Amino acid sequence: MALSITWYDQIDSTQNPAMKAAHEGAAAGHVWATDHQTAGRGRRHQGAVRPWHAPPGSGLMFSLLLRPALPPERASALTLAVAVGCARALEEQTGLAVQLKWPNDLFIDHRKVGGILTEGIVADGRTEALVVGVGINVNLAAADLPEPIEAIATSLLIAAGRPFDRLALLTSVVRGVRDAVDAAVARGGDLGELADAWE
Ligand code: BTN
Repeated sequence: MALSITWYDQIDSTQNPAMKAAHEGAAAGHVWATDHQTAGRGRRHQGAVRPWHAPPGSGLMFSLLLRPALPPERASALTLAVAVGCARALEEQTGLAVQLKWPNDLFIDHRKVGGILTEGIVADGRTEALVVGVGINVNLAAADLPEPIEAIATSLLIAAGRPFDRLALLTSVVRGVRDAVDAAVARGGDLGELADAWE
């Protein structure tokens, strides 16, 4: 899958242009990334969409468009592939040990460092497009984390004790996700192998 990118200094949520482009027939492999979201979305919890907050310039936030050539019952396996790709790239770039928590939260030292939101377009029982949104806390200091979150969240800066180049991280994480997704599709979305990699 060839990659391309649209960058925003600020946007409501990178999921919005990505979903719009998905409806308009954009090709898989495009990435919408930003420095700051004013209405970042997290996964739903008890029916409500949770917000995703990050101070401007502190995190990695992007949405990637996928058009998986997989039967619909296998397409959801790609969320696991995305998590595996993110974790591998982060470990390689930072030297930190990254854990995955079901279904697709990224943890370091038992605290959440990032998450993945998958939104899709399904037509006639077929997954036409998947937009995977990835948010990772990179250069947030402990003081940037609001109090109730502080005990359960972390950042790469907090975990490693040093800041990271976000552009370099963006490139490797996007490539890591692309490689993991391509490999999963090449194996027909085989859940067994993905579950092993996820473990
Ligand atoms: C979660 O753990 O609840 C998922 C968080 C996903 C956040 C990312 S940031 C980039 C993309 N745009 C959004 O509005 N959300 C995702």
